[in-house]
Amino acid sequence: MEKLEMLYEGKAKKVYKTAQEDVYIVDYKDDATAFNGLKKGTIVGKGVINNRMSNHMFKLLENEGVPTHYIEELSDRETAVKKVEIVPLEVIIRNVSAGSFSKKLGMEEGIKLLAPTLEFSYKNDDLGDPMINDYYAIALGLATREEIDKISKMAFKVNEVLCKYFEECGIELIDFKIEFGRSKGEVILADEISPDTCRLWDIRTHEKLDKDRFRRDMGGVEDAYAEVLKRIGLA
Ligand code: C5P
Repeated sequence: MEKLEMLYEGKAKKVYKTAQEDVYIVDYKDDATAFNGLKKGTIVGKGVINNRMSNHMFKLLENEGVPTHYIEELSDRETAVKKVEIVPLEVIIRNVSAGSFSKKLGMEEGIKLLAPTLEFSYKNDDLGDPMINDYYAIALGLATREEIDKISKMAFKVNEVLCKYFEECGIELIDFKIEFGRSKGEVILADEISPDTCRLWDIRTHEKLDKDRFRRDMGGVEDAYAEVLKRIGLA
């Protein structure tokens, strides 16, 4: 399968058309950004790791009944995916306090929440992806009530499947962000699931094995990403 015209270049990925109307190719880059693009850098080999890990997670989720955009891994960095229209929402699930949740609520990081939480951000770089609720999403025409309900249900299912899977790999899933797309009238899981989009801590030592190492200048970023790949059995 060949890449045709580039449709979109994001912070971490490029998306291309193909000769098949309903198939796109995603090409994962090593570029890393944080804080809405204010911090820029490179994580060597990240594109390869995120491509392989995302595909692995999407296959696992498909097997558990969650529809995804995944079709076929084409190379180290490229994957064929179903054409979708992205729902402009970042869907964030949290199991343990960290990041913006800790900051907003004055709660130290690492406290197990009494129940998983779900939040939405409006995907809009100019506004800095503001947090919104389901009523805002519907009022702004970002999604319908039916879509929001399906998205929420799927997001909690993704959390269940991923928590169990990572736990078996010695990793605690602290929180993550996922995105959904519309394909042939259905909402399906799209975008990626990787150390860029999840907080992953060693279950025993609580060492951070994710993009926070880049965001917070902690060093050892490449090693952490490689460690996650190894723990999920792909290296
Ligand atoms: O920064 P915050 O605590 O809100 O992030 C929650 C989760 O969502 C983290 O796992 C982070 O990696 C992810 N996230 C993301 N892309 C964003 C914002 C957050 O992948 N634009």
